Amino acid sequence: MSDELRYDGKVAVITGAGGGLGRSHALLLASRGAKIVINDLGGGVAGGADGSLGPADTVVAEIKEAGGEAVADGNTVATPEGAAGIIKTALDAFGRVDIVINNAGILRDKSFRKMTPELFDPVLDVHLKGCTWVAQAAWDLMREQKYGRIINTSSAAGLFGNFGQTNYGAAKMGIVGLTNVLAIEGAKYNIKANVLAPGAKTRMTEDLMGPMGDQFNMDASLVSPIVGFLAHESCPVTGEIYSAAAGRVGRIFVGATKGIFDKDLTLEKIRDSFDEIRNEEGYIVPKSATEEMGLLLQHMNK
Ligand code: NAI
Repeated sequence: MSDELRYDGKVAVITGAGGGLGRSHALLLASRGAKIVINDLGGGVAGGADGSLGPADTVVAEIKEAGGEAVADGNTVATPEGAAGIIKTALDAFGRVDIVINNAGILRDKSFRKMTPELFDPVLDVHLKGCTWVAQAAWDLMREQKYGRIINTSSAAGLFGNFGQTNYGAAKMGIVGLTNVLAIEGAKYNIKANVLAPGAKTRMTEDLMGPMGDQFNMDASLVSPIVGFLAHESCPVTGEIYSAAAGRVGRIFVGATKGIFDKDLTLEKIRDSFDEIRNEEGYIVPKSATEEMGLLLQHMNK
């Protein structure tokens, strides 16, 4: 088909692509001409140092069998050194990096009162810092070539909350903040950074999904099209969040209510106008902190 979206000449680094969602994104992009680095250290759902290159190698073999190009990489995303190693793999194999899909992830769930540093820190290291270090390792290359597409994987657990996941939720919402700033700093270099909030039946979620997993087709392949679109040259947006599961795709955003303005504000005025403060009618979706401040100006100019 002539209007097919393709990635010929483009190189994509996909972290945690030895299975689940990352594998699915990799198969889609490779089938449309992208050269892919399949990064995965092959550990268990909770992470740890007992992994192998096996899962990454298997996905590379699948891509090659289908006529695509890919290499495996077993570095961890969780350290600046590991992240630099991942980008080096891309440069050694393919000479450039155009797309980074930060997808690697682990879970260490526990209710908040039982949360420990051993459960909290590794989750932040893999998700939030992983997105940070891998994006940073590719950043100068993307700036120099004035081209980059970054997709960072968040989760409804952070965007909206989920019991037992303070570590994961904090990391996943942190990824939104990271991406907002990457979008602003990358704008003049044609680097677009967006967020994915996926839902799919994978080894990470098969026990958590319950009846939803059987009622709908929760295959990861139904999440990858929006990722492919955000990774494509024609991607029209940056600094946005898209949620995708079972074929449904939508946008999630952080909005601000119009609020109130009173230059003699008191505690009691807050109480008395709290409904108006909370009223979602006429909300805006600021593109930056500066734009949010603009709400104040709007009130003052009235
Ligand atoms: P998965 O467990 O199949 O995939 C995660 C992959 O990341 C694994 O292959 C694992 O070996 C790899 N990984 C873990 N730590 C790593 C590290 N330090 N360096 C490199 N690779 C590492 O799980 P799934 O579901 O495919 O998850 C992919 C992403 O999507 C994760 O970020 C997850 O938090 C997120 N997500 C998934 C949802 C779902 O419904 N499946 C829902 C919301 C978010």
